[in-house]
Amino acid sequence: MLLHLLFLGLKLSASATSNDQFVYPGFTGANLTLDGVAKVTPNGLLELINGTAWLKGHACHPNPILFRKTADGTVQSFSASYVFAIYCVQPDICGHGIAFFVAASNNFSETMQGQYMGLVNNDTNGKATNRFFAVELDTNQNNEFQDINNNHVGIDVNGLKSVNSSSAGYYDNNNSNFHNLTLASYQVMQVWVDYDGHSKQIDVTLAPLSMAKPIKPLISTTYDLSRVLTDMVYAGFSSSTGSFISQQYVLGWSFSTSGPAPAIDITKLPKLPRQGPEPRSKVLEIILPIVSAAFVIVAGTIIILLVRRRLKYAELREDWEVEFGPHRFSYKDLFRATEGFNDHNLLGIGGFGRVYKGVLPVSRLEIAAKRISHDSKQGMKEFVAEVVSIGRLQHRNLVQLHGYCRRKGELILVYEYMSNGSLDKYLYDPEKPTLRLLSDAVDIKLQGAYDVDEACLMLKLGLLCSHPFTNVRPSMRQVMHYLSGEMPLPELLPENMSFSILSLMQNISFYPGMLTDPLTNNTISSLSGGR
Ligand SMILES: *[C@@H]1O[C@H](CO)[C@@H](O)[C@H](O)[C@H]1NC(C)=O
Ligand SMILES: *[C@@H]1O[C@H](CO)[C@@H](O)[C@H](O)[C@H]1NC(C)=O
Ligand SMILES: *[C@@H]1O[C@H](CO)[C@@H](O)[C@H](O)[C@H]1NC(C)=O
Ligand SMILES: *[C@@H]1O[C@H](CO)[C@@H](O)[C@H](O)[C@H]1NC(C)=O
Ligand SMILES: *[C@@H]1O[C@H](CO)[C@@H](O)[C@H](O)[C@H]1NC(C)=O
Ligand SMILES: *[C@@H]1O[C@H](CO)[C@@H](O)[C@H](O)[C@H]1NC(C)=O
Ligand SMILES: *[C@@H]1O[C@H](CO)[C@@H](O)[C@H](O)[C@H]1NC(C)=O
Repeated sequence: MLLHLLFLGLKLSASATSNDQFVYPGFTGANLTLDGVAKVTPNGLLELINGTAWLKGHACHPNPILFRKTADGTVQSFSASYVFAIYCVQPDICGHGIAFFVAASNNFSETMQGQYMGLVNNDTNGKATNRFFAVELDTNQNNEFQDINNNHVGIDVNGLKSVNSSSAGYYDNNNSNFHNLTLASYQVMQVWVDYDGHSKQIDVTLAPLSMAKPIKPLISTTYDLSRVLTDMVYAGFSSSTGSFISQQYVLGWSFSTSGPAPAIDITKLPKLPRQGPEPRSKVLEIILPIVSAAFVIVAGTIIILLVRRRLKYAELREDWEVEFGPHRFSYKDLFRATEGFNDHNLLGIGGFGRVYKGVLPVSRLEIAAKRISHDSKQGMKEFVAEVVSIGRLQHRNLVQLHGYCRRKGELILVYEYMSNGSLDKYLYDPEKPTLRLLSDAVDIKLQGAYDVDEACLMLKLGLLCSHPFTNVRPSMRQVMHYLSGEMPLPELLPENMSFSILSLMQNISFYPGMLTDPLTNNTISSLSGGR
């Protein structure tokens, strides 16, 4: 019996010696005992929980570790360190965390997930028969265990009501200032757990991965683990989710029962899977703002140009115009028709403004546009009178007023275009042997040849008939006398035209080149003055 025990003891110590120190910088090829949903990913990451609700996962070092070496049976000093990361979509609603444990058993089939963290169940929590020591990284506050908050580190013995706990963070080595850490931030952090078998002091230290172990531990407590642990213990990790899901990873782990846990080579640690929304590539991060800025600038410029264009072509419209509406031209069309009121389209300059030749964009209609300048003596009243009366007056022998345009107080009258020397053609087109005369009263159609003197007489008579003053126009009886030669036609001399007549004619908006002598092709001089 004694021999048997001795033999057993030797066997155990032999297996334990090889196990008293190990380091896993990533778990590729590690012979971990996995339970629940825990698994080692192909790149060596220990995934305790994969982000599904109400699960538990365990991972244990495969061999039990001898914890009592000395004759007095006290649990010896041990030291562990591990690197972890917890991902939660919302770090403040996260379940439930990771516990590092040293336990008499690696059979967790009776434990519960959720707040029990896969370590105990609602019956066994806190019972001495559990025989475990654990360090919890708790991301959920459970009042039944008197959790201080939803982001704390606790030292647990046989249950989840911590012996000591602290909000997650670390004390720096300079004045020991405390710095908060968020466990479920997916930030990679390292934990150190140190138990001194003589003083029974347990120290737990937390720090971001990039930092060396802080001198001051996060939590300390004195607890004799000899009363808790058995001779042989299992070391590993336990984790769970409840209704709040999380993803819990251990990246590396080291353990020693002889001196401090070996340092974990952080350069060999496995990569964490990417979480959350797709990060934007650097190229996009640079190009996107430039493209956006360029777009805004271009869009802004276009809007400014459009507004300026609108203002440029902006027109005034009043009630009286509604009636006359159809005859109104847009400034834009006239601007285009006259190539921007270009000088080479200038037909003449009259007392009231410049007259330009143009071709309307769509209809290709040739027009003459008279711009009446701001400082013109032709006021609004006269303008209205002209537009309304002359616009309505249609006569084939009067140069037709097509319409008008108004913009920023600028007035433009649009007439039928007639080139210099075109009046004779207007009166007589050889291709259409019809002599068109200036009055409905005299409308003689000539077939074939015609007498030049007669034609001349007709023209002069026509001009007389269309005199602006009705009392100067001949009566029908007089017209018949002139045509029959019984009465000579009175001479039309420049002196006959007073300035008041000219003024009137200007108001009716004749302009240079409009009337020409059919025989000489010259603009009728008596009418050209002051246009
Ligand atoms: C997590 O593991 C469980 C159990 O193996 C499985 O049913 C579930 O699909 C896994 N979820 C993800 C997100 O991998
Ligand atoms: C893994 O651990 C188990 C349990 O201790 C053991 O039976 C097995 O031989 C180990 N395998 C390797 C490859 O070490
Ligand atoms: C774990 O414990 C349960 C109940 O205590 C038992 O039924 C089961 O067989 C044990 N599993 C192992 C692998 O020992
Ligand atoms: C523990 O939970 C089980 C199942 O939910 C329930 O039947 C049992 O009564 C609970 N025990 C205690 C002590 O609350
Ligand atoms: C330590 O703290 C002091 C004062 O708080 C500060 O001036 C100093 O820069 C700190 N040193 C380091 C290494 O952080
Ligand atoms: C650290 O966290 C605690 C608990 O959440 C909070 O009370 C404290 O204000 C935080 N300190 C800093 C500096 O953020
Ligand atoms: C808990 O830990 C803190 C920080 O190390 C320490 O000051 C405090 O005395 C500890 N409380 C107990 C009950 O051990």
